[in-house]
Amino acid sequence: MRLHSNPASPFVRKVLVLLKETGQEADVTLVPAAGHAVAPGTMPVAQNPLGKIPTLERDSGPALYDSRVICRFLDDRAGGKLYPAAPRLWDTLTLEATADGIMDAAVLMRYETTVRPEAAQFAPWIEGQWEKIARALDTIEARWMSHLSGPMDMGQIAVACALGYLDLRHPGRDWRAPRPALSAWYAAILTRPSLAETIPA
Ligand code: BEZ
Repeated sequence: MRLHSNPASPFVRKVLVLLKETGQEADVTLVPAAGHAVAPGTMPVAQNPLGKIPTLERDSGPALYDSRVICRFLDDRAGGKLYPAAPRLWDTLTLEATADGIMDAAVLMRYETTVRPEAAQFAPWIEGQWEKIARALDTIEARWMSHLSGPMDMGQIAVACALGYLDLRHPGRDWRAPRPALSAWYAAILTRPSLAETIPA
């Protein structure tokens, strides 16, 4: 299988962590991709009409996207390790969706300052994206710590990847100070090899 990927993408990192956690790294070849809506570059537009990463080309059948579909597929292929049975599944999926929403907003903030010409940038829109992120992080701190402390699952991996992206692209926004429980959890989970080996530089 071929995974169109970029090590800076938190969505790609979810898949890379899952591959390590489930022992499937050798089954996937990484295909470097870079670009965005204005200049698609080497993004996989032929395999994914949305031109987004991660996109997974399989040996047969259409390419899979987005990260949630790819992660479900690869976890199923490995015997179902990171998506638990219902009813816990609904919590895992909601936590993963919350983390993906943080990534979406954080990537949009990044594009606003790196792709859009400075004169056209709209500061209230950037702050609106950060407000979404802050609300999601507050919700995790208030309601999700017991789930984060439970058995390893894709919700936990997604939250760790979202926090890693905030550190990479938005280091000036101190997400840790108002959220001591989440901050301590993140420091502990980063010692896990699958996460430690995929920290974006
Ligand atoms: C980034 O460089 O921040 C990035 C690259 C690919 C996808 C998303 C984000």
